[in-house]
Amino acid sequence: MGHRTLLLNGTLTSDGRTWQADLLIENGRIERIDADLSSQQADDIVDLAGMRLLPGLIDDQVHFREPGWEHKANIASESAAAVAGGITSYMEMPNTMPPTDNLDALHDKYARAAGRSRANYAFHFGATNDNADVIARLTHRDCAGVKVFMGASTGTLLVDDDDALEAIFSVAQRVVLTHCEDNQTIQANRAELERTGKTLAPADHPRIRTREACLKSSSKAVELARRLGTHLHVLHLTTLDEMALFAAGPIADKHITAEVCVHHLWFCDDDYARLGNRLVCNPAVKTEADRSALHTALIEDVIDVIATDHAPHTAEEKDGDYASAPAGLPLVQHSLLLLLELQGAGVLSLEQLVHKACHAAAERFGVVDRGYLREGCWADLVAVDPNGATDGGAGLLSQCGWSPFAGHTFGHRIRGTWVNGVRVWDGERLLPEKPAGMRLEFNPLNR
Ligand code: DOR
Repeated sequence: MGHRTLLLNGTLTSDGRTWQADLLIENGRIERIDADLSSQQADDIVDLAGMRLLPGLIDDQVHFREPGWEHKANIASESAAAVAGGITSYMEMPNTMPPTDNLDALHDKYARAAGRSRANYAFHFGATNDNADVIARLTHRDCAGVKVFMGASTGTLLVDDDDALEAIFSVAQRVVLTHCEDNQTIQANRAELERTGKTLAPADHPRIRTREACLKSSSKAVELARRLGTHLHVLHLTTLDEMALFAAGPIADKHITAEVCVHHLWFCDDDYARLGNRLVCNPAVKTEADRSALHTALIEDVIDVIATDHAPHTAEEKDGDYASAPAGLPLVQHSLLLLLELQGAGVLSLEQLVHKACHAAAERFGVVDRGYLREGCWADLVAVDPNGATDGGAGLLSQCGWSPFAGHTFGHRIRGTWVNGVRVWDGERLLPEKPAGMRLEFNPLNR
């Protein structure tokens, strides 16, 4: 018998249902789930009476900044913040320095994460105008997906050549993930605002990175994917207008899927006055009506996946002029707490939350044996206390040291996170064991 941990009396949610059960972990995997396992032998026993037990979240879009921007963040620091927030697996983006646009850079990232990542990890490959030949050869053993910046954001990655775009969408064997904002529209908007002579401010961000810029670019991505049969995943949608591009229904029936990020579900343009540059991100946070359309699309299965786009920058970088402030905000430590708050407000059910934030990325990317409370899956788990509280500005683990939720108290507390059966967070602190993250494994996509 290997190492056994028994989690007693939890209220579990997975696969569309919520029920009371005990859960036995053996050798890192969920060995059994049953109504009463209290007579089982175990090395550790944890009583979860009054707690919810969920699959750890799988975040398909994070920026951990390594290599090249370690003054902002690194894999060790951000994966620590992730597990404290109940995220047990992540897929990291290629806009690092140098960008992850060749195999050496990709292998370097896996080597950096091994032994240092507290959560399970995989990396997306970065598309350029010139690397479709490399993309054609990438399989499920190499990367989670292929990221295409169809609009420029942090870093240098951008695909602005239509022939390159066609080639990438034609040859990719992995999911193509797109950042959709039309660059020409953005540049024209900025030039027009600058012509007025007014000093640009954070609230101008959605007037520059407009809904038209989003719709133009996401329409193009969807048109290409329909025509070429690409497995497309459009990232961080922000507008009501774009919802018409996507079909309702289960992921299994789609080759074009949609993602929303927690900050776009939470904030709207009223918040620029309070948060200033700290709320500036790409795509921009838009109106209250857009936010509510995103909520509706989520529960109607038009949007498939919830992620974070965790994008740490230092407070110093963020607090300069709007014109020089980088886009993005740190989110991994609070995404589950935020979603639970939306659940409490009736935006989505707990089963839908688990579906979109835990199961959906596993299904979309073909993650092997993770994302569910099922016997045989790896024991990636999060225990939440519905009667606890979390100060959104305290105990921050992201290296950037600030949070857009300072001043907000969440009505839940994450009391435990397990990664591959190892408890890595106890509600107060990271456990001093060596990082338990493993490289994610994927199944090939049906193409
Ligand atoms: O706000 C953002 N920040 N959006 C992105 O697409 C990139 C990210 C970053 O890397 O900073």
